[in-house]
Amino acid sequence: MLATELRKRYIDFFVKKHNHKEISGASLIPENDPTVLFTTAGMHPLVPFLMGETHPQGKRLVNVQKCLRTDDIDEVGDSTHLTFFEMLGNWSLGDYFKKQAIEWSYEFLTSPLEEGGLGLDPANLTVSCFEGDDDAPRDEEAAKVWESLGFKRVEKGEPLHGGLIYFYNKKENWWGPAGQTGPCGPDTEIFLDSGKEKCPGCDELGVSCDCGKWVEIWNNVFMQYNKNKDRTYTPLAQQNVDTGFGLERVTALMQGVSTHYETELFSEAIKKILELAGGKNPNDFIVSQRIIADHLRAAVFILGDPFGVAPSNTDQGYVLRRLIRRAIRYGKKMGIESAFTTEIAKIYIDLYKNIYPELEKFKDKILAELEKEEAQFSKTLVQGEREFEKMLPNLMKSAQKIVPGRLAFKLYDTYGFPIEMTEELAAEHDFKVDKEGYDKAYKKHQEQSRAGAQQKFSGGLADHSKQTTKLHTATHLLHQALRNVLGNHVEQKGSNITVERLRFDFTHPEKVTPEQLKEVEDIVNEQIQRGLDV
Ligand code: ALA
Repeated sequence: MLATELRKRYIDFFVKKHNHKEISGASLIPENDPTVLFTTAGMHPLVPFLMGETHPQGKRLVNVQKCLRTDDIDEVGDSTHLTFFEMLGNWSLGDYFKKQAIEWSYEFLTSPLEEGGLGLDPANLTVSCFEGDDDAPRDEEAAKVWESLGFKRVEKGEPLHGGLIYFYNKKENWWGPAGQTGPCGPDTEIFLDSGKEKCPGCDELGVSCDCGKWVEIWNNVFMQYNKNKDRTYTPLAQQNVDTGFGLERVTALMQGVSTHYETELFSEAIKKILELAGGKNPNDFIVSQRIIADHLRAAVFILGDPFGVAPSNTDQGYVLRRLIRRAIRYGKKMGIESAFTTEIAKIYIDLYKNIYPELEKFKDKILAELEKEEAQFSKTLVQGEREFEKMLPNLMKSAQKIVPGRLAFKLYDTYGFPIEMTEELAAEHDFKVDKEGYDKAYKKHQEQSRAGAQQKFSGGLADHSKQTTKLHTATHLLHQALRNVLGNHVEQKGSNITVERLRFDFTHPEKVTPEQLKEVEDIVNEQIQRGLDV
């Protein structure tokens, strides 16, 4: 079953069989929510309606939501973690509750394929519910619905198998709220047997074991509480259902392959990556292939979002830059020498454009930004390597074969040269990098930046690193350029500079137009290009 078919089945099941309205997913970059950088779950954009606002499409909704989670970015490369993913979800805004939500998920999973379900064997399903604590009681209501469907509460010491109900604490079976306060509640999660061998920990841990034997495929959250500022919980007037069904995961399981990278959602991109790396064997560089495939897919969706951003050193732009640069680094590791990110991006745009027309609409922008970032980063890498080579004769004088942390940090701070690259270069010459020293230098610098960021409007510099000094010079260029374009009335009102960005506050009676901004940018960039002595 292809992902397209799975999306359609899910939506049809809730629309045609259970009277839901399909709504379009929200943008990946929150339109109006400064508390999060990206939409990390389908409930984010729906919070006002979970809190009681009337949704124009009614009380039963179903959708596909683009999500991005970067907490586990370092785990990407294993068989389950992704940064970007699609989440299918059905919603009750104060309409149905636990009984129907559970019964319908069970019905969708187990009813025959020809009747619109997924035809899964109930013996391959096992579930978990909330065990209860001081904030909220054990979710007996959910457990009883599962019992009515033939599931049994797990007995102490009973080995892990299908048809069981496990009980866990908040860490496993509670969702939300999105911020410090807001709608939240207990959840019940559904796990599917992947067919893999049981691991030694499975029987003891139950479905909370993350060896990959039992995979969570569906989370039904019962949003029945509001978390208050003082960390207490009060029942919500409206009882909601928020569900999440991971598309990539279930697609892989339905196809009987061991990871989503083997499904049609990634296979073309992976094939191209191997080809670009000079015809590598699919079994080599597995982690690198996956990281490239995951990160560039996420980058395409961030760049192609209606509220899309460009790579930068702050916020969403920084996450984007990190994803692209990481993909390039792993590309180099695999032996991809030439620019390649746009090749992979084109594959994803073609694959997804029917479902996400914005990718086609912003195709030129996606490709142009990737190309620019890749060129810039390649320059960084060349520069960093050159500087490293310059340091080498001196380092050779010492018998210890260690690159001091402060030098590794200098390469990062001055040229943006990633520590991993320094480590690789060092290893080529049988050197090690003093990672502890690097971390220390990094931390010190972070503290300085933070202190700098707090001195709003003070005009101070966060530190006197080369990068910060450059940005300081740039504020003077910016000031003059603003005067050239807008007029001599432009006065500096404040400025704040850290190693990552500059901010410049100034007076002008009108909103600056995009054309004027472009002109200002061009002037500043032109002067930077001249490379004048300061
Ligand atoms: N909000 C729940 C999740 O993302 C459904 O898992």
